[in-house]
Amino acid sequence: MSENVNQQSLPSHIAYIMDGNGRWAISRGLPRAAGHRAGVSAFKRVLSRTVERGVGVITFYVFSTENWKRPRHEVMALMGLLYEYLEREKEELMKMRVRFHVMGDLAPLSRRLKRKILEVENYTSGNPYLLNFALNYGGRDEIVAAVNRLISEGKTEVTKEDIDSALYTAGCPDPDLVVRTSGELRLSNFLTWQTAYSELYFTNTLWPDMTAADVDLAIDAYSKRKRRFGGA
Ligand code: IPE
Ligand code: IPE
Ligand code: MG
Repeated sequence: MSENVNQQSLPSHIAYIMDGNGRWAISRGLPRAAGHRAGVSAFKRVLSRTVERGVGVITFYVFSTENWKRPRHEVMALMGLLYEYLEREKEELMKMRVRFHVMGDLAPLSRRLKRKILEVENYTSGNPYLLNFALNYGGRDEIVAAVNRLISEGKTEVTKEDIDSALYTAGCPDPDLVVRTSGELRLSNFLTWQTAYSELYFTNTLWPDMTAADVDLAIDAYSKRKRRFGGA
């Protein structure tokens, strides 16, 4: 096998861990919620550039199963921003030809937010680009839920393919590239199963400072990587 055999210059799926909103705000003497608001603007820049570059599947880590540990007012601010975004940007998603999809346990969310999520998912369901929001998402919970579902369907032994098909990402390629901002060098329970062979890209840039040029830097770095998948 040639060492370039699996090399692809453009990722099919990029997953972003949006981190550093709080530090961005604190360094400006602002409340953390202001960082999250600036984070929404950065999200829009990053999404639009990533779609422009032709990446077909784009996933954002919006809220982890561990983020409930934050103060209630911060959690409320995040959920409020999410609702506002979905209400305002529905048409923009259509213009970008993006299909909105949420991965995570929606049960603890407000009825109003759940309704809005379903509305935007249905509204955008015919679009070719896939935008995943990992919301109340945890990689370990996802695997446990998948295995339990398979057991409830009568399976007594499972294959990798069974697990793949029972995850939120069923039918979706694994992320080729995971981008994490703010200098933290960890995955924080994000796509635990799916990132087994992902390329990782870390930048010190805080999420609210992310620009289209930073997206290009990440994609360029990816295109220079040699993926071997265990081969020679
Ligand atoms: C990312 O920014 C947003 C979420 C996790 C929802 P943080 O809020 O984690 O920002 P830092 O890490 O405290 O700077
Ligand atoms: C990961 O960021 C979760 C999201 C980006 C939604 P955190 O800020 O919660 O991660 P840790 O606590 O630094 O690992
Ligand atoms: Mg953080």
